[in-house]
Amino acid sequence: MNVEQLEARLEQLSEEAVALLAQAGEREEAIQVKNRYLGRSGSVAELMGVLRELPNEHKRQAGQASNRCKKAIEGAFENTMASLAQQELERRMREETVDVTLPGRVTSIHLGHPLRQVENELIDIFSDLGFEVAEGPEIETDFFNFEALNFPPDHPARDMQDTFKLTDDRLLRTHTSPVQVRTMHAYDVPIRIISPGRVYRCDSDITHSPVFHQVEGLLIDRDVSFADLKGTLTAFAERCFGPGTNIRLRPSYFPFTEPSAEVDIECMFCSGDGCRVCSHTGWLEVLGAGMVDPNVFAASGIDADEYTGFAFGLGVERIAMLKQGVSDIRRFFENDLRFLEQF
Ligand code: PHE
Repeated sequence: MNVEQLEARLEQLSEEAVALLAQAGEREEAIQVKNRYLGRSGSVAELMGVLRELPNEHKRQAGQASNRCKKAIEGAFENTMASLAQQELERRMREETVDVTLPGRVTSIHLGHPLRQVENELIDIFSDLGFEVAEGPEIETDFFNFEALNFPPDHPARDMQDTFKLTDDRLLRTHTSPVQVRTMHAYDVPIRIISPGRVYRCDSDITHSPVFHQVEGLLIDRDVSFADLKGTLTAFAERCFGPGTNIRLRPSYFPFTEPSAEVDIECMFCSGDGCRVCSHTGWLEVLGAGMVDPNVFAASGIDADEYTGFAFGLGVERIAMLKQGVSDIRRFFENDLRFLEQF
């Protein structure tokens, strides 16, 4: 190969390389092309192996041709890398732009679970009437849940409440009345408490849940009468369901109260005229109540000749369903945000 042929071949190599670099779509590809031509054992170095065979007077000319070729390829490589970097930058700017016209994400400031809202409202109402909040365990003994409340062993009244039994003596409390017994054991009279909390019964349909919530009340003092009970519950009904809400008491039975009553409130949907919600009676049953049975006092060491008292109990879910227009109790426990966010 003479020097002219070498020059032509170098020219050819640089044109090839420049064309390939112009097409390279990725930096990796450009680097490979460059190495293939300019690397230690690339095409240009290989070609320049012939330098030894050239006559001395042509070596300088060959060297210059080789430098031109390298410069051309390096220049094309730099251009390609720069333009790929620019393309990459433009792509990221396009993809990472913030659309300032999009509506913002709404974070709801929630007021608590609907049951908690109603429970708090009930606590507020009874606090204003002078009741203090008392709490107790959800796993109870037979004594506090039944025996001290005048449910003798094997008494059929125990079947009124479908109990989850844990052992012979331990159970999930079926009502918050055991908190009242615990309070009578721990404190002196007079007593004026409400016991809000979770209770359990083996029962499930659209108005019954195996776990639900109660607020029960107990007031013990000298000269407490049935009229005090009625006055307290009337005040409660007006605060909870609106001024002028009437209540009605019907005779009933609970082992721990005597006399006992079911307490109805006037239906707030039809103002007592009769509608679907109240089964056309004009009344809604919301509470159980009565005067504390002397046997309950005896089991807790309170002198029934000196003191009298009343007790009442209501279901938080029942009140919540009425106040919030919810027809299936299970909605409260599914934790579906679409439901919960409505409150
Ligand atoms: N403990 C009763 C129940 O859970 C409710 C109640 C309480 C009734 C106090 C009368 C007096 O069904």
